[in-house]
Amino acid sequence: MDIQWYPGHMAKARRQVQQNLQMVDVVIELLDARIPASSRNPDINDILKNKPRLMVLNKSDLADLDATAAWLDYFTNDGSLAVAVDAHHGAGIKKMVALTEQLARPAVKKYMSRGRLARLARCMVVGVPNVGKSMLINRLAGKKAARTGNRPGVTRGEQWIKLGGKLELLDTPGILWPKFEDSETAYKLAVTGAIKEQIYNPEEICIKLVQWLLSNAPGALAKRYKLNDLSENVWEVIERIGVYRGFYLSGGRIDGYKTAVFIIKEFREGKLGKYSLELPVR
Ligand code: G4P
Repeated sequence: MDIQWYPGHMAKARRQVQQNLQMVDVVIELLDARIPASSRNPDINDILKNKPRLMVLNKSDLADLDATAAWLDYFTNDGSLAVAVDAHHGAGIKKMVALTEQLARPAVKKYMSRGRLARLARCMVVGVPNVGKSMLINRLAGKKAARTGNRPGVTRGEQWIKLGGKLELLDTPGILWPKFEDSETAYKLAVTGAIKEQIYNPEEICIKLVQWLLSNAPGALAKRYKLNDLSENVWEVIERIGVYRGFYLSGGRIDGYKTAVFIIKEFREGKLGKYSLELPVR
């Protein structure tokens, strides 16, 4: 999904999340495990207020294992329950459901203590575009999922997906805007795929990425693209990858644009290794 955010869109997105918030006991705040800070909506605390919340680091299959452990510690020390998942392959999902149910328990108890009939705990997923909300919901919905009918107050089309015997998930996620604060955050969102190509220059992003890889994991490029004697000149490295892949323009020059798009894609897919681009600052 590719969304250009304007103040009107942000206000509408916020309103939609706030409306759905009233129907749930717990929010699953989905983040990209490679960039947990940059993939966080900047106003999320203000939007969610005191609603119980589970921090979920998705795409953990693409992130550095130690960095993810550090982020889980960070969120736990901050007083939140947190879990790493891989919505693509299913890792961590069972634990996520169990923690969500645990977080929802007090609200359900309180509800029943007012003499009402028992009801299931309810939750929803929120996050910035491309963090994996749809994939997570589809994985949770699975084949066995029972989709219950519409409820009063739920926008038409929104439904609840039963997760086990105790929990229901709203099948429509809350889509919130990412940070736009600085070029470093924009770079991280672009290189991980949260911002689409039409909005940034792939060659600029690729130069920064290759620079980062040369400093942090020099072996990765050499191994993947069979490069001996890695040059320190970033553009030369990119051109050699273009040669390796045969990305030529007519006239025999290397197609820098195509090569840049290719390298970014390989990075996003984890073909160059598992990397996290930021660590928690305490
Ligand atoms: P959104 O609803 O939050 O906007 O995100 P969505 O589920 O559409 O996921 C965005 C991209 O991230 C998709 O890739 C999806 O496959 C991928 N993805 C989601 N969760 C995970 C995960 O845990 N691990 C990995 N490796 N990838 C994940 P895409 O290339 O945009 O589309 P697709 O063709 O792969 O579906």
